[in-house]
Amino acid sequence: MKIAHISDLHWLDLSGASPFEFLNKRLTGGFNLLAGRARKHTKDAVRNALETIAAQHCDHLIVTGDLTNLALSGEFLGVKKLLNAYFDDERMTIVPGNHDFYTRESAHARRFETLIYGKAGARIGDLDIQNEGTSWPFVRLVGDVAVIGLNSAQPRPWFVATGRLGTAQIEALTRAFAHPEIQSRFKIVALHHHLFQVVRTPGECWRHLDDRKAFLDVCAQGKCDLIVHGHNHDFTQKRYGDVVISEAGSCSVSRFERDPRAGKFNIYEIVGHKLMAVQTWRYASGAYALWKTTSPGAFECVGPDVHTENSGG
Ligand SMILES: [Fe+2]
Ligand SMILES: [Fe+2]
Repeated sequence: MKIAHISDLHWLDLSGASPFEFLNKRLTGGFNLLAGRARKHTKDAVRNALETIAAQHCDHLIVTGDLTNLALSGEFLGVKKLLNAYFDDERMTIVPGNHDFYTRESAHARRFETLIYGKAGARIGDLDIQNEGTSWPFVRLVGDVAVIGLNSAQPRPWFVATGRLGTAQIEALTRAFAHPEIQSRFKIVALHHHLFQVVRTPGECWRHLDDRKAFLDVCAQGKCDLIVHGHNHDFTQKRYGDVVISEAGSCSVSRFERDPRAGKFNIYEIVGHKLMAVQTWRYASGAYALWKTTSPGAFECVGPDVHTENSGG
């Protein structure tokens, strides 16, 4: 079984956007774009990542959020069309990032759910585990693997990018781990936000998952095998007890080829109920190539309150 994992596509498309849609937090997002983000995150890198993954004959694709830059309709429609060119909806697990809930207006309109899942609050996935009136958690059963999707994204004030799952979602996750169809499978949980503080600049104090300790304890008790996430655009590989935690980086970054934040994605090789290896692919000279293959047994063991430095390369 091969499961591909991409994150932080940051698809930009301002077509059809009204000037009134920028009279909010998008003012700062727009400034970031002008400051270079649009050149750093490119559609060519995303396309090449999907082409490369398709050529590897992966069974399933997990997308851990920040599909868009500004949560605009044109961005959601454009990136979904590209994803569907390579994977049907049933072969993807997609969870939102903070950029997909960028403004209160986009969250209130439930734009991510409507344009990515087809309908807000609709039953998705293969088992009835969603909380009433929401789309989360949901599960995809892929052979011996269960992929559980969570939403850690909420609209936040300017310059704050923290996430929260909330009590209801964490309780639903506890029930999901006890479900016989999930319990008997290799369990992957997908969310956007990172779980360990990375503080290289003062602003990075406000980027991680608020309720990470409760989440990690539920994952450990539920014998979750693998947590996959994005958000920090880093490449990290960690363990919390027996739970493997893997961050792919941003697949849209097409600069900084020697930098830790060069574009990356992961492919997880699972045999039976065991994660055998993690392939990491890196974008360099206009195309993705296999960068390294790691064994989860070698991942760094950490606790939930550690401050950790970037481990990329
Ligand atoms: Fe991001
Ligand atoms: Fe993010």
